[in-house]
Amino acid sequence: MIDLRSDTVTVPTKEMLNSIINAKVGDDVFGDDPTVIELQEYTADLLGKEAALYVPSGTMSNQIAIAIQTKRADEVIVDADAHIYYYEAAAPAAISGVQMRPVKTERGVIPLNDLKNSIRVIDDHFPRTALLCLENTHNRHGGTIIPLDYIKQVKKIVDENKISFHCDGARLWNACAATGISPKEYAEPFNTISVCLSKALGAPVGSLLTGSKELITEGRRKRKMLGGGMRQAGIIAAAGLYALRNNINLLKRDHENAKTFAKLLFESELITLDINRVETNIVYFKLDSKINGMQFEEECKKKGLLLLHLGNNSVRVVFHYQADESVILPAVNIIKDVAKNLSKR
Ligand SMILES: Cc1ncc(COP(=O)(O)O)c(C=O)c1O
Repeated sequence: MIDLRSDTVTVPTKEMLNSIINAKVGDDVFGDDPTVIELQEYTADLLGKEAALYVPSGTMSNQIAIAIQTKRADEVIVDADAHIYYYEAAAPAAISGVQMRPVKTERGVIPLNDLKNSIRVIDDHFPRTALLCLENTHNRHGGTIIPLDYIKQVKKIVDENKISFHCDGARLWNACAATGISPKEYAEPFNTISVCLSKALGAPVGSLLTGSKELITEGRRKRKMLGGGMRQAGIIAAAGLYALRNNINLLKRDHENAKTFAKLLFESELITLDINRVETNIVYFKLDSKINGMQFEEECKKKGLLLLHLGNNSVRVVFHYQADESVILPAVNIIKDVAKNLSKR
């Protein structure tokens, strides 16, 4: 079976499992698990931040970031397709009691004028704008990269308006691999940045929230409140450290594979694909309206290909380190065959 549903489907390699077996562990709720401490220090250093906090998931990391940088009834500006807004089960409302201000964008880049217009003036009628979130790379826009120059321009605006700035960097590593810009440079303008180990890098579990010592100390308290305090977490942190030290360099290959796949599918009948959006490891395409998207997903599965239909005839394919170039042609052929067959029904 070829599994291109997500870059979260990778399983640990033998080398990664060895790092787990050899991990030194303690109790991270008491703060004495040496491998968790090492992972946190390593990540903070990589991102040029004072501190980092190891958490079970990207969702928890984003939600802690919101919780520590807002007060109840504040407003958070976010792209309308951001994971934080679209896929986190309304957690900002449930956990932090904040209102989201989604702004529709083309590729996750909120035009500066729209951004300025979205910031509330001080008035008893309005919520207070407390936080702005960007997502880099952007999942629902197709793994698109948020340009560093743009991020720096946004930083000036948030500073002028005394707003906190968070980055959902679940796939920051992909942006770094594609542009050659370092994690530190990307992270510098943000107060907090969340990164995932369980996506492109192939670790089984875990994300880190990074920022100032003060924010991360508060984040640790929120993590406990949300049930995210883990005990002998060094077992999984070891896989994360292995992934950070060894797998960032492998991401370019995923990007090349995604581009080759997209080029092969680009000129197919029954499929619309914006090749300019394929900047990293994610490829979105749209099926002809004659085809039922759910059926398409089912039929591809029967032929040995797992992918995701995300509604509205939009389909997502993601390359990862356990889907190498050998899967490209078989996957393209299955997609073309199934699309052709379903369009005749
Ligand atoms: C951009 C982005 N942010 C956050 C998350 C959430 O990560 P998790 O599944 O670990 O909660 C995801 C998951 O796919 C994601 O794509």
